[in-house]
Amino acid sequence: AFQPFPTFARGNDEWPRGHARNYGSSDTCVQVTVLGASGGIGQPLSLLLKLSPLVSKLHLVDIKHTLGVAADLSHIDTTSTVKGFTTEKDEKALEQSLTGSHIVIIPAGVPRKPGMSRDDLFNINASVVRDLVTACACFCPKALIGVISNPINSTVPIAAEVMKLSNVYDPKKIFGITSLDLVRSNTFVAELKNLDPADIEVPVIGGHAGKTIIPVLSQIKPSGICFTDDEAAKLIHRIQEAGTEVVKAKAGTGSATLSMAYAAARFTFSLCKALKGEPNIYEWAYVASNIVDCLSHFSSKLLIGKDGVAENLGNGDLTKKEQEMVNNALEDLQKSIEKGVEFVKKSA
Ligand code: NAD
Ligand code: LMR
Repeated sequence: AFQPFPTFARGNDEWPRGHARNYGSSDTCVQVTVLGASGGIGQPLSLLLKLSPLVSKLHLVDIKHTLGVAADLSHIDTTSTVKGFTTEKDEKALEQSLTGSHIVIIPAGVPRKPGMSRDDLFNINASVVRDLVTACACFCPKALIGVISNPINSTVPIAAEVMKLSNVYDPKKIFGITSLDLVRSNTFVAELKNLDPADIEVPVIGGHAGKTIIPVLSQIKPSGICFTDDEAAKLIHRIQEAGTEVVKAKAGTGSATLSMAYAAARFTFSLCKALKGEPNIYEWAYVASNIVDCLSHFSSKLLIGKDGVAENLGNGDLTKKEQEMVNNALEDLQKSIEKGVEFVKKSA
């Protein structure tokens, strides 16, 4: 069975204390920096990272409130160290937090309110991601970077262009974190078929907005889970609109934060394990890709290694309907990618 937090349950203790020695060599230090750490995602994500023995040093960065969040988390009796950095008052904050980082996770930016699309966030979040990734290019050019800030379909190409401008671009190292789409899909399929979500793996390919979110129901593991046409249509619609479901339910106070923190933590742990040399680490993420001819970025199944994407395993065998969904997503993806690339060119 798939266990997202295997270290929590394993061994004699029921909590992560004392399990550090179970993972990789004890001298493999992993420093993770969270940019946007005081926010709705940033805080619970930082908590989950603090609980894991996979993370040795945790750097928390935000415009404000980070020192309090860091002080609070630092009292938790796990082995990692926590340090807070506030960019508003400290011009060295980005340099000091990013230097030496192996992994940088970026949930900085504004979330949606009801009635908004993810693309409506572009005007604010494009510059946030551009500026933070520029700092990464300068202070930790070799780090693996996970972008959460929306619209992912554009902010990941922005991150790529920024790294290119600084001559440190490595397409294997920049990830748009789409894990929440997989987490939700597992949950919804489990609910529908009365199964344990931990046993289910639903691949989701494409991008992270509306019809670019493409669940591949024909490749669900374990095999043999069948849907009527009506079930499949409703399931796909719910997965594609799940972010909006949360935005509506939160009624103006933000978008998914807790489930996203869980999804991002799970993804970050995969990166940590890969960095520590653990084999067979597979994830889905929105990355630079030539899997679909006309697109520079696409989410598909990836083998992750010490240097990021070790192999892009592509989309597998899609049914005719799934291939149609990919074809229907191409125009939106293309536009979002171009918008991001143009934004960086204009602001260079
Ligand atoms: P939030 O407003 O609660 O938190 C964002 C934090 O970023 C704030 O603390 C803010 O101070 C900080 N910030 C803004 N600009 C910054 C900068 N230049 N440097 C450092 N910190 C900065 O928002 P949230 O709910 O945490 O959502 C964050 C982003 O994540 C949004 O864009 C949202 O759309 C996106 N999101 C993505 C997914 C996904 O699946 N990829 C899921 C949920 C949310
Ligand atoms: C999500 O899928 O929950 C995020 O992309 C946030 C949003 O705006 O929907």
